[in-house]
Amino acid sequence: MASRRKQPELLSANAQIDSEYAKFCSLPIGSEIGSGGFGRVIKVDNNSVRKVLNTDPNLEYLLTNELRVCSSLMAVEHKNLVKVTEVDQKERTITMKWAGATLRHILAEDISIDKHLISTLLFDLASAVKKLNELGYIHRDIALRNIFVRNKSDGLAEFVLGDFGTCSNNPYKTGLAVVTSNNPPEHTFGWKSDVFSIGKVCWDIMIQIMKPWDSKERVHEVMETFFENYYRLVLRMVDPSPLYRPDIDSVLWGVQELFETEECKPAKRVRGKKPT
Ligand SMILES: Nc1ncnc2c1ncn2[C@@H]1O[C@H](COP(=O)(O)OP(=O)(O)OP(=O)(O)O)[C@@H](O)[C@H]1O
Ligand SMILES: [Mg+2]
Repeated sequence: MASRRKQPELLSANAQIDSEYAKFCSLPIGSEIGSGGFGRVIKVDNNSVRKVLNTDPNLEYLLTNELRVCSSLMAVEHKNLVKVTEVDQKERTITMKWAGATLRHILAEDISIDKHLISTLLFDLASAVKKLNELGYIHRDIALRNIFVRNKSDGLAEFVLGDFGTCSNNPYKTGLAVVTSNNPPEHTFGWKSDVFSIGKVCWDIMIQIMKPWDSKERVHEVMETFFENYYRLVLRMVDPSPLYRPDIDSVLWGVQELFETEECKPAKRVRGKKPT
């Protein structure tokens, strides 16, 4: 049997992730840590934040949706989903565990992008989406600003998916609150739309190692050398047709198989049956 390579540090930005936590802890309670189209987020204590929703009649159906989905997620514990601890329908607030710095924030720094980062990102996000799917939800807004990064006790990074405002349990729903380049090209946002968005997030991160003037052939050559079969999996995930795109179970199995063959991560166990 081939000997296992020593598992490298996942992110050279580990120290930076730690410093994000230190920065958060140093903020006074009640200070605003960020805001988006749906509301502002304030610090509650060193472990929690609270989203105070806007009152906008035009967005009311989405804000009500966020409160409803978050209430149902309160009972859910999953390492790759932001933990919702309290929902106050009257005050229109959602209290959550602090989940880390956003991936958008971390990527703005100079971190090493390699297949260890991509493999963990793929596995963690696919695990999060599988859990949401089991609960009947499609996320529909998987993007850098809604993915958080934190350090586990073993020093490796862990990715956490949050912001459940656009979650839907209707696979035939058309139209989205936010139109982003991570949306799939089909007009409905069915079960495979989250697979496309995860693939697109990974693709966007991978492509950062290329130069704008590199030829198409060069892009494929370098990406395959650098990310090996993870690149091929990501390409399948961003297939414009949902028919040819793998489902979330196939993605999880695909990454798990690559963990073994690429020998870059110890295998993790995936629940459920291997798809045929
Ligand atoms: N659970 C959390 N843990 C840590 N930081 C959080 C958490 N939830 C939100 N934040 C911070 O609050 C900011 C605002 O979040 P919010 O989801 O309201 O807006 P957004 O994702 O930036 O934009 P939008 O949701 O409007 O598309 C985030 O960028 C992040 O910095
Ligand atoms: Mg968000």
